[in-house]
Amino acid sequence: MKKIRKCLFPAAGYGTRFLPATKAIPKEMLPVLTKPLLQYGVEEAIEAGCDTMAIVTGRGKRAIEDHFDISYELEHQIKGTSKEHFLKEIRQVIEQCTFSYTRQREMKGLGHAILTGETLIGEEPFAVILADDLCENKNEGVLSQMVALSEKFPQHCIVAIEEVPKEETHKYGVIAGEEIQKGLYRVTDMVEKPDPKEAPSNLAIIGRYILLPEIFDVLRTTPPGKGGEVQITDALLHLAKEEKVLAYKFIGRRFDCGSVDGFVEATNYFYELENRKK
Ligand code: UTP
Repeated sequence: MKKIRKCLFPAAGYGTRFLPATKAIPKEMLPVLTKPLLQYGVEEAIEAGCDTMAIVTGRGKRAIEDHFDISYELEHQIKGTSKEHFLKEIRQVIEQCTFSYTRQREMKGLGHAILTGETLIGEEPFAVILADDLCENKNEGVLSQMVALSEKFPQHCIVAIEEVPKEETHKYGVIAGEEIQKGLYRVTDMVEKPDPKEAPSNLAIIGRYILLPEIFDVLRTTPPGKGGEVQITDALLHLAKEEKVLAYKFIGRRFDCGSVDGFVEATNYFYELENRKK
């Protein structure tokens, strides 16, 4: 199996839950403390060994491209001052990887966004990070854990899962599966945003995936599902029927920064973490 070196970031969604903030600012650029959500995601991908970031953007998302680029004027202004260190981290990120972009012209769902990214990925296995799911683990990042697993199971797609309260299954893709080793399931069924009564379990898919390139062919023929959107869950179910999908209960914490509650929780958590370092 080829090494996972590309990470796809679907970042074209409207972020309606954060209006009016997201009217002109991409949701992925909202900062937790001083760092935009997308930069957390890119750093996680770099830690996992990726060096090519493929970002699916949309209209009104140009700030993303500017963020992962040099800002000559700003750098010139603060060079040699006490503020220079504020740009150190992002400069390191830019130096360590390349960024390529494509636009999703119509927001037809996450599955459609991933298919839009095909042109940046090509014929190799790849990672996907949804930056609004902010993951934290002190020892090993969540994507890094999944890349290690994909080396053992190179013929499988892998989704990250976590247990959620049963009454919240309607917010997630939910899996059913048989546990083949501790925390690792062979997926037998997947349902997008099921009512708690119909959910096959309380194991919810969160925004980290390792995908095989054959997913693109499946996505091409996947009809719109829940909410009229092309769902990655529906495409993965197709592969699950061929026993090609694993679900991994990751080690670490996830914050749903696509919701205001999760965003505030993440902000408080990272603030505490920073303070403890001081
Ligand atoms: P969400 O379900 O969080 O949708 O998408 P959203 O539109 O961003 O946010 P709300 O619900 O309106 O507040 C999950 C991820 O998939 C991307 C989003 O950018 C986000 O990272 N996405 C979603 C796309 O790139 N394109 C789409 O058509 C839909």
